[in-house]
Order: sequence, then C-alpha cells, then structure tokens
Amino acid sequence: MEVLRDSIESYREEFSRKGIALKEKISRNANAISFADRERLNQLFANLLENSLRYTNPGGTLEIVTEIGGDFITIEFQDSKPGVSAQDIERLFERFYRVEGSRNRDSGGAGLGLTISKKIVDAHEGIISAHSSPLGGLLIRISMPVFEGHK
Ligand SMILES: Nc1ncnc2c1ncn2[C@@H]1O[C@H](COP(=O)(O)OP(=O)(O)OP(=O)(O)O)[C@@H](O)[C@H]1O
Ligand SMILES: [Mg+2]
Repeated sequence: MEVLRDSIESYREEFSRKGIALKEKISRNANAISFADRERLNQLFANLLENSLRYTNPGGTLEIVTEIGGDFITIEFQDSKPGVSAQDIERLFERFYRVEGSRNRDSGGAGLGLTISKKIVDAHEGIISAHSSPLGGLLIRISMPVFEGHK
C-alpha cells in the first residue's frame, strides 16, 4: 500500500498545522491492491484526507487503518467531530451533495469528492460506505478485492 502511505505523507504537515492528530495502522503486507490504478487510488485517498482536514475540528483525530481478511483489503478512514448526521450520511455519495453548515460554505468544495471516490472504488470492484465513527465523526470504509499472489 505504498500509494496509501505516500498520500498520507503528503498531507501530514497540513494535518499538524491544523492540530489534527493523524494516526495510521497499515498492515505490512498491504501491497495487496497493487493491481489497482495508482493515480486513481491516490485521488481516492486524497479526497478522503482532504475531507477530514477540511471538516474535522482542530484538536481532533483522523485514524487510518487497513486490514486484510480473506480476499479483501479493508481501509478505514475515521475522524472525530463534528461528523455527519445519520440523515446526511445516506446522501454523501450523491453528486453535488454538501451538508448544510457554515464551514461548508467557507470551504467552497463542489460536493464531488465522494462521488468520484465511489466511482474509483466501483471501478476496482470494491465497496465504499459511510458510517458514524466511534471517534465521534465520520467513518469511510473501503473494501477492495485482493489479487491472488498479493495476499
Ligand atoms: N470527514 C468528514 N467530516 C464531516 N463531514 C464530511 C466529511 N467528509 C465529507 N463530509 C460532508 O460531505 C459532503 C460531501 O463531501 P464531498 O467530498 O463529496 O464534497 P466536498 O468536500 O463538499 O467538495 P469537493 O470534495 O468536491 O471539493 C461535504 O460537503 C461535507 O458536508
Ligand atoms: Mg471533498
């Protein structure tokens, strides 16, 4: 998962500047999805890192955890407050959907990041879903098939 590590490193300074703790637990044999399109994966991870950076309160946390089980690798991005209400969680992957709120208006995003992320995951025959995080914010879970020989 070189690409995941690289994406994280390129955001580390911005997280520390905003006072958000960035923690990761990436399994060592997580080279599993090396069949995937590197540039697209980088875009996927950047979208999720960018969201946590933009929407998580200063002083908060983003935790990234990977796990390999059977034929799938699971990658979780979970952050702390404020997160997204249950009602909004259902709509996050819709095109142009943005949760009402002052920080949103300030940040000027298009509401496309998660839509594009879902398309990238779909193209790799994976699954992406949104939940509320035990840390108090949003949890995005990605599950992608592992190729034989990369397990
Ligand atoms: N980690 C998060 N914590 C809280 N809210 C989030 C988080 N990630 C996404 N959201 C909410 O989901 C909405 C949709 O996210 P998405 O990445 O699709 O678009 P965006 O960030 O608004 O714009 P873009 O990514 O196109 O610049 C955001 O506007 C925000 O309201
Ligand atoms: Mg975004």
